[in-house]
Amino acid sequence: MPRQHITHTKIAEHVQRLGELYPPISLDSVDRTIHRPDLVVARFGHTIDYLARVELEVDRNVLELLTLLPDVDETNKTFYADVWQPQEIQHGLILDRLQQDLGRTPADPYLDVSFKIKILGALASLRPIQDIAKLLYFLTGASTERQAVLAYNQINSGLKELGETAISETIITPIKQQEPGHFAFYQMSATAMIQDKVLNPWQLFLARVLREKSYNLVGTNAMPGYKSDMGGVAVDLGINADLAGYAREIGRVETRLLWAHKQGMEFPPYILKALRESVDLYRERADRGLSFA
Ligand SMILES: [Fe+2]
Ligand SMILES: [Fe+2]
Repeated sequence: MPRQHITHTKIAEHVQRLGELYPPISLDSVDRTIHRPDLVVARFGHTIDYLARVELEVDRNVLELLTLLPDVDETNKTFYADVWQPQEIQHGLILDRLQQDLGRTPADPYLDVSFKIKILGALASLRPIQDIAKLLYFLTGASTERQAVLAYNQINSGLKELGETAISETIITPIKQQEPGHFAFYQMSATAMIQDKVLNPWQLFLARVLREKSYNLVGTNAMPGYKSDMGGVAVDLGINADLAGYAREIGRVETRLLWAHKQGMEFPPYILKALRESVDLYRERADRGLSFA
C-alpha cells in the first residue's frame, strides 16, 4: 500500500500537538525513592550515565542544527526551540540527578561542534548542499530517537523487574513517552523530502555517500571512547544478542528512503558495522582493564 503523503501542514500539526501534549518534565515531579541502588547500578549504572550525557548534549545538537541549516523554516524552528530542546534538556537534568543519587559522577556532556559539521555547514550556504545536509540531519534524528525509544523501553522493563517503581514511573516512563514524537517528526520530515523529490539524483547519491561515511550511533560523536561506552550500553541492554535485528530497527527509515533501489537490503551495512565496532571497542577495553587488574 502506498504511504500516505506527508504534507508540511501535517508536520506542523504534529509539532504543535507534541508541544501541547508533553510539557517538559519538571525535576519536582520525580519521586527519588531507590530501593536497591547497588542493583540498579550493577544493571543500568553505565547506561544511565550514557543517556544522561547524551540528553544533555542537546544544546550542541541545536548548535549543529543552526550550523547546518542556517535557513531553517518555521516548523523546524518551533520543533527544536519550543518542543525538542526543552524536553531533552529536562531528560538530561533528571537522569543526571538520578545518576548522582546512585552515587555516580555527574555527566560531562561534550558540547563542541565538530570540525566536520562546521565544514558541511560552510558548504551548506549553497542551496543544493543545504538540502543534502537537511536530509542527513533528519535521518540522523530518526535513527538516534529510535535508539532512545528502544533503550528506554529496555531499561523500563528491567527496572520494573527490580521493583524500582519510582524510577520507572516518574523518570523513565514520562521520558519514554516523549521520544516517539521526536522520532515521528524526523521520520515525517525525511519522508516528505523524498516524496516531494527535493533532491536530484546527484544530491541523493552524495547523501548516500556522506551517510555511509559519517554514520554514528547515538552519542558516540565519532570518538572511540564514546563508541566503546556505547558498546557497553549495547551489552548491558542485551542489544548485542541480535545486532542485525537492532540494525534493522534503527535503520528502517533510511533503508526505505535512501536504499529502496537496493533490492533485498534489510538494513544499510554501515549501521551493523558501527554496532560491531562499538561492541568490539568495549570488549577490548574490558579485556585491557582485566589484564591490568
Ligand atoms: Fe530524550
Ligand atoms: Fe528525543
